[in-house]
Amino acid sequence: MNVDIEFLKKLAMEAGAYIKSKRPSSSEIESKEGRGNFVTAHDKAVQAMLYDSLKKEYPECGFMGEEDETHCESLPEFCFIIDPIDGTANFINGYRHSAVSIGYVEHGIKKAGVVYDPYLDELFYAELGKGAFLNGNPIHVSGRKLRDSIILFGISPYYEGYGEKSFTMLRKLYENACDLRNSGSAALDICYVASGKTDVFFELRLSPWDYAAGGLILSEAGGVIKNCEGGEISLVKGGSVLCAGKENIEEIEALIL
Ligand code: IPD
Ligand code: CA
Ligand code: CA
Repeated sequence: MNVDIEFLKKLAMEAGAYIKSKRPSSSEIESKEGRGNFVTAHDKAVQAMLYDSLKKEYPECGFMGEEDETHCESLPEFCFIIDPIDGTANFINGYRHSAVSIGYVEHGIKKAGVVYDPYLDELFYAELGKGAFLNGNPIHVSGRKLRDSIILFGISPYYEGYGEKSFTMLRKLYENACDLRNSGSAALDICYVASGKTDVFFELRLSPWDYAAGGLILSEAGGVIKNCEGGEISLVKGGSVLCAGKENIEEIEALIL
């Protein structure tokens, strides 16, 4: 199925404009399972808006979205994987670093991805085999070696039991790199590695909607996305994620595996 990247870009920008215009009141915020895991009325509204528009344009497509009531065990043949607001805690607190993430996957292969940060008006996107772009300009991973790298990380706050291992890994990387950052939006973290703003990202437990779109943008930008055990990421189940350039991935794996 041919998905029109211009349509996805437009949709992400419309959703982003909505997000930028809102700040949830306390009655619009609900807790989900896990530490600091919230959903707001706006996460739900953005997902509904994206589903509606995509269903009209691509009636044969299925969906996986963070705010679905249940998550499927296998992906539909043609599937949009959506995080309506990646960086919900930032959004709630007015931290102004969140994004809309729309990935399109066909027979389990990532075909298109769009990640939009409405606060900086930065639109990252890619189609399989066509390169990756930020606001129309081609992007590429930095090419920096680990000793010169800035490491982005997440601690998988919603899941118990990842803290100690995350900090051990972080310490090993920090001792061999330049500096660390924690941003609160995994989708943007991956795009920041793709565009060379930073060099490495890892988190030990993420879900497909966090990295489906960003993962394609990164690989089209010449980067590598794997799990932290040295294997392939899954688009169905979620798991650990390691993003880097071809120049530093081996050195990183030698430290963490
Ligand atoms: C979260 C963000 C955060 C990461 C969490 C994610 P959400 O997504 O990407 O950076 O550390 O693991 O779940 O809940 O804001 O969509
Ligand atoms: Ca997310
Ligand atoms: Ca989300």
